[in-house]
Amino acid sequence: MDNQTGTVQFFDTTLRDGEQAARINLNVNEKLQIAKQLAHIGINTIEAGFAAASPGDFECVQSIAREVRGSTICALARTKESDIKTAADALVSAERSRIHIFIATSDLHMQYKLKMTPEQVLEEVRRTVPYAKSLAQEVEFSAEDASRSEVPFLIEIFKAAVAGGATVLNIPDTVGYAVPDEFGALVKTIIDGVGAGPEVIYSVHCHNDLGLATANSLAAVKVGARQIEGCINGLGERGGNAALEEVVMGLRTRRDFYGVNTTLDTTKLVTVSRLVSRLTGVPVVPNKPIVGANAFAHESGIHQHGVLAKRETYEIMRAEDVGAEAAVMVLGKHSGRHAFSDRLAQLGYNLEKEELNTAFAHFKVLCDEKKEVSDGDIEALVADIISAAPERRYELASYEIECGTEIVGGPTARVVLKTTDGKEHCDAAVGNGPVDAAYIAMQRIINLDLTLENFTIAATSQASDSVGEAQVTVRHPSGVAASGRGISTDTVKACIMAYVNAVNNLYLVAAAKEIKINGN
Ligand code: KIV
Ligand code: ZN
Repeated sequence: MDNQTGTVQFFDTTLRDGEQAARINLNVNEKLQIAKQLAHIGINTIEAGFAAASPGDFECVQSIAREVRGSTICALARTKESDIKTAADALVSAERSRIHIFIATSDLHMQYKLKMTPEQVLEEVRRTVPYAKSLAQEVEFSAEDASRSEVPFLIEIFKAAVAGGATVLNIPDTVGYAVPDEFGALVKTIIDGVGAGPEVIYSVHCHNDLGLATANSLAAVKVGARQIEGCINGLGERGGNAALEEVVMGLRTRRDFYGVNTTLDTTKLVTVSRLVSRLTGVPVVPNKPIVGANAFAHESGIHQHGVLAKRETYEIMRAEDVGAEAAVMVLGKHSGRHAFSDRLAQLGYNLEKEELNTAFAHFKVLCDEKKEVSDGDIEALVADIISAAPERRYELASYEIECGTEIVGGPTARVVLKTTDGKEHCDAAVGNGPVDAAYIAMQRIINLDLTLENFTIAATSQASDSVGEAQVTVRHPSGVAASGRGISTDTVKACIMAYVNAVNNLYLVAAAKEIKINGN
């Protein structure tokens, strides 16, 4: 096969090697959910489990073989007849079945773990691969710890596996020891040395102990490997396995270099990643390539400006190609004027140049106080600026409160608001407390059907005569929201002022968004 062409197949071992990771335990339903998603995105082979490990593992492989269609279903087995028979039994209903046999081939593993000679290991392969082949449609053979094995011995072992009927030869970097140049060279030497026909594909299975699993997998593709094994989110023993989402996007993004095809539907990668994270309980770090929350987020002003001008300046992949939210612009102290005004436009504001300058200055001050500035913060900030404008629809003219233990019917408030035309509007109401009563009275005057979304009152010091600061956010049924602040040593007055200011701001925000609201 020409090493620069062909299609790379994906072998997912999230349910076997991934689940082998410390503290991960998936039940049969959870494994089924994941397997169905893997099949849905076009994973070629799903390693459903190690059927002989426990009755639970057997049941998982069996259910996946029974219910999942579209992918080859694979079960792991040692070079033991009983393991192989159990794997075959579990796979019986699979649309297409594969038994994956492994045995260690490094001197270290053979001597200390297996306590076998190389000849005995070779004999195991000669004996068990044909047996597996008689029980499943496909046999994959793995030489465990291949990257620390003697190359001539590896070639001999792989030749024996091919002679026995294996059509997938897997070269694992079991302990994540390999480095890309060396691993690529090893894979090439094996491909050339085994010299199998086109019915055999070479596979790699890289662990991530040195953070090189993706790089090693890609190096192997470059020299002719056509199956990549790995896990979603890079799960797996110790440092994990190659993250399949990284390998597939590496191949797609650098197709100019690797020149190979992939058939995975990458637009669901984030969905699958989230499912695996939720079911395994292993969170995805924000800076995880491809599927992390920050993978397509920009905060630096220079980057935001670049991405807004031309996405490719700072993005090598399109968020939609992996199913992520497109270019999330996180507004914070590194953000520039472009990103800020872009967000204002998205929120529906069309500020004059002067207002924009003031808003941006306020935004920078806020950024020193908060790491991330939310859309709500921006709306409040803009409302504040717009409300500094002279026109105010309502002013508090006067108010009276009656409350105390002896008041019949509950606390009562009478409020008088003055409108810009000089008219005074008065109403009175009973409420659960003095502020509630005043708010009901004001709602009747203003007549806007507002929802109170947020109400806070705080004292500015610990003394009983300290200033009370009230914050209120109101929302109109049209969706327009605005906040207001009131400050007074009389806390009820602070609350009334905050409400009046919020309503005034609401009119200004609605005008800036060109939304009409009709009150009194
Ligand atoms: O890491 C490894 O060598 C394995 C084999 C079973 C393929 O997981
Ligand atoms: Zn492994």
